This record gives sequence, structure tokens and C-alpha cells, in this order.
Amino acid sequence: MIKAFLFDLDGVLVDTAVFHYKAWKRLANQLGFDIDEEFNETLKGISRMDSLDAILKHGGVSLSQEEKEKYAKIKNDWYLELVNQMTVNDILPGVETFLKESRSIGIKIALGSASKNASLILEKTGILVLFDAIIDGNHVSRSKPDPEVFLKGAEALGVENDACVVFEDAYAGVQAAKAANMLAVGIGSEEVLHNADLITKGLNEMSPSEIITKIL
Ligand code: G6P
Ligand code: MG
Repeated sequence: MIKAFLFDLDGVLVDTAVFHYKAWKRLANQLGFDIDEEFNETLKGISRMDSLDAILKHGGVSLSQEEKEKYAKIKNDWYLELVNQMTVNDILPGVETFLKESRSIGIKIALGSASKNASLILEKTGILVLFDAIIDGNHVSRSKPDPEVFLKGAEALGVENDACVVFEDAYAGVQAAKAANMLAVGIGSEEVLHNADLITKGLNEMSPSEIITKIL
């Protein structure tokens, strides 16, 4: 029996995946190389420092720890410039209804994101109050595909792992859900998320009850 839904943030509830991409691309350009959308897929779900390491490797650039911290902060400042312009209108289509309907049928809700900016974004978009637990980049030490973020989410909700459904737009995020012995709904394209149990284009496409019926 499904008792809880665990949501990734960027690319599932809000369109901040695009903001991350813009800010990382700007940083790569400043360092003298470029990143494209295909490479960006590999960054989804990955923590800020792990993303920076992957980008530097991609560009063949080597930096000291101190320089890396400086550039991670620059990227985050650019990213926050975009986040600070967000309003309630920036939630992805159907998200608020989906969360409310889930609650109304007794499903518990947690966030499972690698982002250290998660609470700020949920607050700005007005959906923070709909969550029973928030597990974000401030609570975990290992990036997806490690299952830590989802295991902690299930624990915070007091729900067994196999009674949880994870909603993810990242391949690494679906891998993390599977490693946690949870079911996974991929939000996006079948090409990228072929490891998910069910795929949909967005939370406006199916109701919570439909998801539960189809995924079991
Ligand atoms: C999510 C996103 C990643 C991002 C990470 C850390 O997992 O998918 O693209 O790098 O969070 O986000 P932060 O807001 O802490 O830099
Ligand atoms: Mg994501």
C-alpha cells in the first residue's frame, strides 16, 4: 500500500533546473569552455560541489579547493538572482492541485532534494505548507544516486521504504529511488528516464490516485 510521496524539487515542482543550467553555463563560459544540454542532464540531482567537479573535469580545468569554493559561491549568487524573481506563478503546472489531492487521500508528503536552497524556493512559490517533511542538501552528505535523501525522507515521515513513491526528473534521482527500494515516477522523457516505473510529462497529466493504480 502506498503511504507517501517523496518529491524532488528542481524540474519536478518548479522549473529551476533551467536556472541551474543557465548559471553553470555562465560559469563554464567564464572559465573558457561551454556545456550543452546533453551534458547538463548528467548534473541533474547532483549536489553543488559534485556538479562543479563534473563541470571542471568536462572543461579540463583544475582548481584548488579555495578556488572551487569561490566559483561555487559565484554560481549560487547568479542562481539566486533568478530564484529571487520567482513567485507563486513559477510552480510547474498542476503541482499545487496534485499536492493537495495527495494530502486529501491520506498520502504523506516529503521533499527529497539535493538543493541547499530548497526551503527558500518552496516558500517563494507558496507550497512549503503542503509538506510534512523537508529533506534537502542541508541534511544529506551524499549526492543522488545514493539513496540517502529518500531514506531520510521516509524515516522523517515514519513510512516504510516500499510504501513510498518518488517523483524525479533526473536519471540519478530515479537510481536513488530504486536503491532505496521505492517506486519511481519519472517526470520528463522516456529516453532519459527509462529506469523509472512510470513516466509522465508533468504532475498535471495524472491524478495521485491514477499514479497509484498505474504504478502498482
Ligand atoms: C538539485 C539540482 C541540481 C543542483 C542541486 C544542488 O539536485 O537538480 O542541479 O546542483 O540540487 O542545488 P543548490 O541549490 O544547493 O545549489
Ligand atoms: Mg530534479
